Amino acid sequence: MMQPQSDVSVFFILLRRSLSIALIWTFLCFIAAFWNIATEQKKTIDLAQREARTVIDKDQALRFWATDHHGVYVPVTKDTQPNDNLRHIPERDITTPSGMQLTLINPATMLRQVMNQYGDMYRTKGHITSLKLVNHLNKPDEWETKALYEFETGKEEVMSVTRIEGNEVVRLMKPIYTNAGCLECHGSQGYKEGDVRGGVSVSIPLAGYRAIEKKSLRAMYITHSFLWLFGLLAIALIFTRSKKRRIERLDDLQTLEEQSEKIKIFAYSVAHDLKNPVVAIHGLASLLRKKQFDKLDDKGRQYCEQIVKSSAQLSALVDQINIFISAKEQPLTIELLDFQEICNTVKEEYAAQLQARHIEWREPTRVDGIRADRIAITRIIRNLVDNALKYSGENLSRITITCEEATDRFTISVANDGNPISREACRNIFVRFKRNCDDRKVQGTGLGLAIVKELAGLHGGDVWVESDGREGAAFFFTLARTGPAETKTRFSGPAFMGGRTPPQKSE
Ligand code: HEC
Repeated sequence: MMQPQSDVSVFFILLRRSLSIALIWTFLCFIAAFWNIATEQKKTIDLAQREARTVIDKDQALRFWATDHHGVYVPVTKDTQPNDNLRHIPERDITTPSGMQLTLINPATMLRQVMNQYGDMYRTKGHITSLKLVNHLNKPDEWETKALYEFETGKEEVMSVTRIEGNEVVRLMKPIYTNAGCLECHGSQGYKEGDVRGGVSVSIPLAGYRAIEKKSLRAMYITHSFLWLFGLLAIALIFTRSKKRRIERLDDLQTLEEQSEKIKIFAYSVAHDLKNPVVAIHGLASLLRKKQFDKLDDKGRQYCEQIVKSSAQLSALVDQINIFISAKEQPLTIELLDFQEICNTVKEEYAAQLQARHIEWREPTRVDGIRADRIAITRIIRNLVDNALKYSGENLSRITITCEEATDRFTISVANDGNPISREACRNIFVRFKRNCDDRKVQGTGLGLAIVKELAGLHGGDVWVESDGREGAAFFFTLARTGPAETKTRFSGPAFMGGRTPPQKSE
């Protein structure tokens, strides 16, 4: 039967599901936003860094150019006086044929002058410095000192984002190495070719880049928010749609269930009420055959025979239907079983037939620990034996009952060596009113195996049949070792059925 589910519980289940999807969606949007913001910010720094490299490289090129020319001569002015640090150079000061005074300036000085006088054009100031200074004006600051020490350990570049006088900047510093040209003036300081002579640093203000970044971040916030809202809207829409659909389906299911319940009650009451008239017809027909047989003509006798036979069949069918119903309806009484006793009870019931047909009976010697409903298990064994006797044909010479124990269950089988069962038949042999159609002569109701399946199912067990298609067939059912999980009642019958129907002994 379906779990009772109300509109309210459907609403809450769907609401919970939609809310968790919305939460996941929000989380994803946040991750995407964070990722994109981080990428954008990294781009800002990358751009500033690139600018810093360009500036340094250009300075460096200028510096190399000056070094290649062993410094450059410039006219002596108020700002450009002969450099005391170059006094060792013989031709530091020269006079042109027209009498103009020229003095040599070294690359570092040249660049410092460029920076100081045209720094505004550069927007950024480069700074040449060293741990071992020629000119005290070139003194490194704290950040540069740290970088210079790092160059000594082989580092090729130092970069960081810091603040200078409250402004955010990207600082980049690269080492400058001593080459042969440098030694002319720095050789006396003890430098050799390849040594780190010092470093050049630049600081690029980030403000301009940040302004661009802000713009694209704003666009990003807007698109992400829209996307997020759009997703939420879609989720809300899906929620309302599926709520409506679910509730409709629930209503359909409820009507369907109500209808099938009505049909069931009708069928059960018909089966129950049919019993008495059928028994009466059978009894009366039998009486007619016994007492009035002589008075009937041939046709009448033939009809009488047929009525007796058909009413017997009808009575058996009604019985079986009632058993089937009671199998569904009755609660199980779980107890420790004497399996051998059950086998013997069934054997006794069929003793006459077994003897007459010379059928050998085999049963397990000892089985302990089966916990199940005694009446149900007896019925299963009885139905399987009855099935074998009815459908296995003339060749049947042996019925074997076995019981195999596993850690979690018992597997019980009732096998015979009679007619095999086709693969097709094996598949739906346990379905109600499906008989093994090969044998039309045999009378049966088609409910015996369905009852077996029902009862095994109530015990939490399976049923199946095996046949190699050549000889015989074996029917199996399993019982959980722990017994059924709970006492199951599939169907509570209508009140007028009189509650518990005791299972009939004979079929
Ligand atoms: C023509 C002489 C001359 C040449 C060639 C020369 N320098 Fe200098 N350099 C100087 C003088 C003089 C100073 C200090 C004066 C100043 O900064 O005004 C100086 C300063 C420096 C500084 C700044 C730190 C400090 O000690 O004050 C560095 C670094 C430096 N030079 C590296 C080099 C390198 C590397 C080369 C070769 C590529 C080189 N120089 C070539 C004369 C020279």
